[in-house]
Amino acid sequence: MKLRRALLADAPFLAVVEATRPQAAGWKEEGFAAELQQPCARIWCSIEEEKITGFLALRVTDGFCEILNVAVLPQRANRGIGKALVAQALAELKQEGPCRVTLEVAQDNLPARALYAQAGFQPLGRRKDFYGAGRDALILGMDV
Ligand SMILES: CC(C)(COP(=O)(O)OP(=O)(O)OC[C@H]1O[C@@H](n2cnc3c(N)ncnc32)[C@H](O)[C@@H]1OP(=O)(O)O)[C@@H](O)C(=O)NCCC(=O)NCCS
Repeated sequence: MKLRRALLADAPFLAVVEATRPQAAGWKEEGFAAELQQPCARIWCSIEEEKITGFLALRVTDGFCEILNVAVLPQRANRGIGKALVAQALAELKQEGPCRVTLEVAQDNLPARALYAQAGFQPLGRRKDFYGAGRDALILGMDV
């Protein structure tokens, strides 16, 4: 498995991965294309057999980073791809200097919470009913 930064031409293939995962942010091809043209946006993707199998999208400005979206193809899940994407994004941020990284995750999204917990994210707060009645958003963060 290789990791690289996504390019504008990857937008349709990122959208294919996203469409397999209702828990992700629901971005379409146009959304990925728009995001990839934002100067502060970065999308890391995993490549296996020349296909995109996962991605992690973040925005970075002046020592602050927000992780916006992450997904791995279901047939490639639980093989360390999500972990590798998070580690790569954090390693790059660390090289660039101190950075506070935050994200939101649904309380009931146990795989995503496990992914972020093993990477070292800590709970910072909660937005009640953010994803609908009874579905709180947890705000997680870490400093790199
Ligand atoms: C969250 C997601 C990206 C994880 O990707 P992945 O490649 O399967 O994760 P990894 O194999 O790298 O596992 C990373 C950690 O998460 C844990 N994990 C992965 N799937 C899990 C599951 N179904 N249940 C519990 N823990 C799980 C692993 O145990 C691992 O922790 P560990 O190393 O301490 O054991 C993937 O499940 C996914 O695409 N989910 C749908 C999209 C989503 O929920 N996005 C987040 C909201 S925007």
